[in-house]
Amino acid sequence: MTRTHLAANFVIPAKMKAWVYREHGNAADVLGLDPELEVPEVQEGQVLVKVLAAALNQVDAMRVNGVFQLPGFSLPAVPGYDLAGVVVKAGRGVKELKVGDEVYGYMWHAKKDGTLAEYVAVEESYLALKPKKLSFEEAASLPVVIQTAYGGLEKAGLSPGKSLLVLGGAGGVGTLAIQLGKEVFGASRVAATSSTRKLDLLKSLGADLAIDYTKVNFEDLPEKFDVVYDAVGPSERAVKAVKPGGSVVTIVEHNKALPPPAFSFAATSDCSTLEKLKPFLESGKVKPMIDPKSPFPFSQAIEAFSYLQTGRATGKVVIHPIP
Ligand SMILES: NC(=O)c1ccc[n+]([C@@H]2O[C@H](COP(=O)([O-])OP(=O)(O)OC[C@H]3O[C@@H](n4cnc5c(N)ncnc54)[C@H](OP(=O)(O)O)[C@@H]3O)[C@@H](O)[C@H]2O)c1
Repeated sequence: MTRTHLAANFVIPAKMKAWVYREHGNAADVLGLDPELEVPEVQEGQVLVKVLAAALNQVDAMRVNGVFQLPGFSLPAVPGYDLAGVVVKAGRGVKELKVGDEVYGYMWHAKKDGTLAEYVAVEESYLALKPKKLSFEEAASLPVVIQTAYGGLEKAGLSPGKSLLVLGGAGGVGTLAIQLGKEVFGASRVAATSSTRKLDLLKSLGADLAIDYTKVNFEDLPEKFDVVYDAVGPSERAVKAVKPGGSVVTIVEHNKALPPPAFSFAATSDCSTLEKLKPFLESGKVKPMIDPKSPFPFSQAIEAFSYLQTGRATGKVVIHPIP
């Protein structure tokens, strides 16, 4: 078990730095650095984590601008789902984790207190011990996207010998879906789409066929696939690339009628998936993919949001270090 020895005189402060939004809007307009936010209290089953690295997801931008709202959510709030850090306090009822444990995971729809903060109180069940091979920065890049990729492929019934097409292969989710498809699910053939300059990356991740979406309509190719993993949409195109009897999973289209056989998948935070995938992360068979412009230091969270929102990131936009 990886455990960081905290200094004997380590004291949890009462206040912390955190990025806060007090109204909805573009992150550049509404996010502000609060130097004196209260450090959250741990509730039953939660641990307090000193956040050392965080990562951004499209859902963070959607929550800041108000496109995606959770029941019971209220402003002000701190954005951020993904984190990696060190446990500094365990609340009542915490069974597995101890002070000093190096952990990673994602907050499942945190109501107010996200991970763009020095400290976060988070349910033990959302966290796993950080694989030793990974830095905090690498670990923070994984939780949302690896659980989304794994869960969607599992629900789509990908199994050894089947073929897979990943739409959006160079994004946070797609870079993991290609690797998991090949290394964990044993797909016989993996194809993926990206723009021209990212085709080599798709190959390096294990894709047998890299499709340039600026030149080719994937649905017009004669080759069809057992499973189509759609991280781009619309599903009307994705279903034209599946073999009869195959499945199409979309992670981008919810709350709308999907053309058969497409179905939607939304990830839930569950440390058991991280535990299951640990051997692949420790062996390096599955690797984090951090965007070359990352990491953005904590002070540049707004620049990180702006970059994420271009929709052109390669792999993950990571925030590191966090003071
Ligand atoms: N349901 C869930 O639980 C869940 C979880 C996570 C994410 N999501 C959603 O899934 C989507 C993908 O997430 P992400 O984190 O992977 O996003 P991302 O990292 O921001 O995706 C960026 C990548 O998308 C690629 N891309 C853009 N348009 C494309 C196209 N037409 N064809 C192929 N690739 C294209 C870009 O490559 P190029 O520069 O080459 O275009 C870029 O590398 C988002 O809409 C996100 O909200 C859903």
